[in-house]
Amino acid sequence: MIPTIKTFEEYQQQYSLSVQNPEAFWEEKASYFQWRKKWDKTLEWNFQEPNIKWFRGGKLNITENCLDRHLAERGDETALIWEPNDPEEHFRKFTYRELYNKVCQFANVLKNNGAKKGDRICIYMPMVPELAIAVLACARIGAIHSVVFGGFSAQSIADRIQDAQCSLVITSDGGFRGNKEVQLKTVIDDALVQCPSVKKVIVLTRSRTPIAMIKGRDVWWEDEIKKVETLGLNECKAEEMDAEDMLFILYTSGSTGKPKGVVHTCGGYMVYSAYTFQTTFQYNPGEVHFCTADIGWITGHSYIVYGPLLSGATSLMFEGVPTWPNSGRMWDIVQKYKVNILYTAPTAIRSLMSFGLEPIKGKDLNSLTKLGSVGEPINEEAWHWYDDNIGQKRCPITDTWWQTETGGIMIAPIAGVTPTKPGYATLPLPGIQPVLVDENGKEIVGNGVSGNLCIKFPWPGMLRTTYGDHERCRVNYFATYPGLYFTGDGCLRDQDGYYRITGRVDDVLNVSGHRIGTAEVENAINMYSDVVESAVVGYPHDVKGQGIYAFVICTPHLNDDELTRKDILMTVSRIIGPIAKPDKIQFVKGLPKTRSGKIMRRILRKIAEGDIANLGDTSTLLDPAVVDEIKAGALISV
Ligand code: PRX
Repeated sequence: MIPTIKTFEEYQQQYSLSVQNPEAFWEEKASYFQWRKKWDKTLEWNFQEPNIKWFRGGKLNITENCLDRHLAERGDETALIWEPNDPEEHFRKFTYRELYNKVCQFANVLKNNGAKKGDRICIYMPMVPELAIAVLACARIGAIHSVVFGGFSAQSIADRIQDAQCSLVITSDGGFRGNKEVQLKTVIDDALVQCPSVKKVIVLTRSRTPIAMIKGRDVWWEDEIKKVETLGLNECKAEEMDAEDMLFILYTSGSTGKPKGVVHTCGGYMVYSAYTFQTTFQYNPGEVHFCTADIGWITGHSYIVYGPLLSGATSLMFEGVPTWPNSGRMWDIVQKYKVNILYTAPTAIRSLMSFGLEPIKGKDLNSLTKLGSVGEPINEEAWHWYDDNIGQKRCPITDTWWQTETGGIMIAPIAGVTPTKPGYATLPLPGIQPVLVDENGKEIVGNGVSGNLCIKFPWPGMLRTTYGDHERCRVNYFATYPGLYFTGDGCLRDQDGYYRITGRVDDVLNVSGHRIGTAEVENAINMYSDVVESAVVGYPHDVKGQGIYAFVICTPHLNDDELTRKDILMTVSRIIGPIAKPDKIQFVKGLPKTRSGKIMRRILRKIAEGDIANLGDTSTLLDPAVVDEIKAGALISV
């Protein structure tokens, strides 16, 4: 275990050290892990190309650090607890030894099915323990996992599989989320029509729904396990990886229509996910950590799987949703497993808040010691509700700001150490050097200022490239402000030097903590046969944080708006997935464009927000009359 930080003064000292000598700082952190060969050079970098290499020449396998390393000391302690969707179904627990055995077995299944080091493997699964096992089994054999969230459509999966040229897919017949059954295998079958690179599909039995099994391509997880058992293949030696070999790809939305495959590598990600887990949550051995994210997102990668297991912690994963079968479900889980650390998203807090205090009554939440928030800005009301009713004012709240690209938590209070302030992610973790810049990239110094949030020095968990397109990585993150990593977020640094993230400054939305590009949603809407053009913006939404508002021009002959709306929603669901469905669709005859043909989103945003009186200067528009028509038809909530 990396030593915890006990006092605020200690944090300040560590922070100074990390800035004065980052190499020495991270070398010391890296020394707590098991390396097959020590690195030759701690850091090599420039943000121009960019070229970032941490622990160059070091050899390791992350699963030896997640599993093997713990066997002697805590082999019989619980590594993973799984709470099923249906509270009537039996939960499952895995000790470190059991998880090690399962991972080795499945790693052998992967090998038997032709997978090898460097192959890309797509994982499209419900939140069952086998998802974590599949992730770790890939890492064990050096295959690069690309987990796709179970809510994405066939088209989205196909795009991701094609981009990474995956050769194998791991999925399940179906899955359960609340009162819904999700047809995962059918979606995969639809996706694979477009994916000739995929040679094998391994299918786990979960929902027992009837599915097609294609001869020569599809095999059952359980049958394959039996085969390796019969062959006595219960051990699987971990593949030796270079610190800078790819560990995984995770697709995320940007301001263009096409999601980017963010690449993380073995050594740096290992050190960073574990360090940030232990430091932010001040993890004490024996504590039960419950992160409510899905493993399909970065939060699940770093704080359900890798961070906790690297730390020898007990990680709880939950298959269902917080409001099913009733709105007390989360608190039942906390009580049932005596959860110590709860890490969830503001959108979940706001949704649970709306049920009042009744669902919490009689629930024993005394085991909780630390609370976390992630994914979007947390409003003060939700922060206080979380603090008063869930933490019962005993538990520090850590509002953690970070991104898929950062690999782990970047700006956050260290639980119980950094004084908190509602709505503020507070201060950078040691090793992280944030700067605010103005439009021209000039650093804004001092406190009581706002600007665009950049990071000026590398950290081990940062992305190395975007899969198959390094130039895209450079343009997206390193070209806007040369010499800096640009986060895409706006940020305020208050009088005390505390950071408050104010939201994206690019065309990326954050809906219920999910990142969605406006261009992606527009592309999907435009796929509907009768749509001529569309423009999508975000607007404040009480529960989701941001809602999606679409302005759509259709061909003139359509007259049933309600039906067209439903058709458009269905189209977006099919192209991206239900998470990208617009909350509001306003049919318009024209969009506000400049003379050069650029849509003035600023005006649409104001209209969507209901701030019609303050549209600002509209004189540069090609046809200012368009705005009056849009204003008149605006779908403003009461
Ligand atoms: O806008 C920021 C917001 O979520 C974005 C990153 O999204 P994603 O890559 O999907 O990762 C989410 C989980 C780490 C950021 O650019 N965001 C994330 N955490 C916070 C946040 N905004 C405000 N406060 C946070 N704590």
